[in-house]
Amino acid sequence: MNLWTLLVLVAFAAGASAQSCSCKTMKWAACEDNPCRCTLLVDSNVKQALDCDKLIPKCFLMKGEMYRAKKGLDTRTIGGKPTETALVDNDGIYDPDCESDGKFKAKQCNNTEECWCVNSAGVRRTDKDDKSLKCEKLVETFWVRLQLKHKPTAGAVDGAKLKAAITDAINKRYDNFDKNLVDEVEYDPDARLIVVDVKKPKGDRVKDLTNMAYYMEKDVKALPLFNDQNEFAPTVGSQKLEMENILVYYVDEEAPTITMKHLTGGIIAVIVVVVLAVVAGLLILFFARKRQNQQYNKTQQREMENL
Ligand SMILES: *[C@@H]1O[C@H](CO)[C@@H](O)[C@H](O)[C@H]1NC(C)=O
Repeated sequence: MNLWTLLVLVAFAAGASAQSCSCKTMKWAACEDNPCRCTLLVDSNVKQALDCDKLIPKCFLMKGEMYRAKKGLDTRTIGGKPTETALVDNDGIYDPDCESDGKFKAKQCNNTEECWCVNSAGVRRTDKDDKSLKCEKLVETFWVRLQLKHKPTAGAVDGAKLKAAITDAINKRYDNFDKNLVDEVEYDPDARLIVVDVKKPKGDRVKDLTNMAYYMEKDVKALPLFNDQNEFAPTVGSQKLEMENILVYYVDEEAPTITMKHLTGGIIAVIVVVVLAVVAGLLILFFARKRQNQQYNKTQQREMENL
């Protein structure tokens, strides 16, 4: 073996080991060699250790994104409901408080005086209140609805093959995601709408739906969190389905307690008018009755006198 071959081999080995030390599930992770360890910067000088063999907990991801947004690096946004009580993340991103295992703390304040309670997906499920707000426990999201719209395709999409294709794509891209959790897939070809219901039994605290949903949301919004920067594009028969947008609904084990604050002014005005009309009607009825009774009493009295 001559010197050149040796140098080439050494360079190759170095290159290979450098390449192997990267974080598959988090493109912003910083990794160090020997042994390969990856971290995510979540605040100035705060590095969160990552397990890159798994999907990174959403709480850590949001923290990292928030930090990047603060630093002006780069970063998110998000519209039927599976149930009346389903939540949509309208608040957008905040700087979450995470447990050491990556779960969300039940109470979140975004470093302000205003706090609220979140579900296991970190989505707000109560009204905002001051710091004294109590959140007894983290309420689990057991059902996630992914509402996907795909881009126009050259040929027709085979609806019969859709569920298997979507389930397979989810399983492959999101860390071997349990196929049994993909409960139902509905398809509206005219609207190009695919509705995927992902559910686990109530009470299950082992499986998690929300990390997968977050990675998919980012993939569809063309901001993949994975190092590979691929897209979520299931192949159905011979058609590759590229996604145009996504809306995620969260259903919790307990109904959220967000009040009707978000009712529009118009609806509130209609409710007020109806209530006023009912009260006015009742008052009119009441006085009419009273007058009738008085008249009745008077005639009765006169009749008695005649006798
Ligand atoms: C959290 O705080 C940041 C500013 O630090 C703000 O931009 C963001 O809208 C807040 N998020 C929520 C949900 O209140």
